[in-house]
Amino acid sequence: MKSAEDSEDKNRKVYVAVRPMDIDDLATVFHLGERLFTAKEVPNLYRTWDDFEVIDLFHSDSEFCLVAEADDRIVGFALGTTLTKSRSAWKYGHLLWLGVDPDHHGQGIASKLFHRFRDLMIAEGVRILLVDTEADNLPALHFFRKMGFGNPQEHIYLSLNLDPQLRQLRERKATSRYRLHDEE
Ligand SMILES: CC(C)(COP(=O)(O)OP(=O)(O)OC[C@H]1O[C@@H](n2cnc3c(N)ncnc32)[C@H](O)[C@@H]1OP(=O)(O)O)[C@@H](O)C(=O)NCCC(=O)NCCS
Repeated sequence: MKSAEDSEDKNRKVYVAVRPMDIDDLATVFHLGERLFTAKEVPNLYRTWDDFEVIDLFHSDSEFCLVAEADDRIVGFALGTTLTKSRSAWKYGHLLWLGVDPDHHGQGIASKLFHRFRDLMIAEGVRILLVDTEADNLPALHFFRKMGFGNPQEHIYLSLNLDPQLRQLRERKATSRYRLHDEE
């Protein structure tokens, strides 16, 4: 059980600064994200929280990678990108990863990060901002609604197991290799 001291500590007003992420922050951001985005909670195969994801985003979109610092510690991050679609004059912004250290939840840190990210997007000429999250991630859904997001679109993932066909193919390849050896 949390002591009164713990919750007092949590409610303590801390000064939080949002700044662009820099190369020395990569490892800290990655490890913080590891605590927030487990494979079970983020089953998207097209995007996985791993060191490559953070490094790639930093390389391709460093201007849209932000961190929040409190007491000289990184306590949150927002990583995003922009995209344009063919046959659309509109520029889209995508907030890909937003995370706050659980010890600092409820202190307005994600709001600060989001507002800075939104301002960067506006300066970039973005007309529509996109976010996505699991349907049962209620804190995130509440958060995004509070930030003004609406019009949720459902997207369902289906899967087809190709393991039997893969095994068959491997067996066929192995058999033809043995045949070639026999003929030599
Ligand atoms: C979602 C998340 C980023 C919110 O961070 P936060 O710093 O705690 O959010 P804020 O303090 O700025 O909250 C702003 C508003 O969001 C809503 N909100 C945030 N957390 C909430 C929760 N657990 N339950 C209900 N509403 C919540 C509230 O409306 C809140 O306003 P209020 O404090 O006036 O009630 C944080 O919970 C998190 O890191 N979650 C894990 C990672 C994740 O799911 N990221 C989003 C998808 S990439």
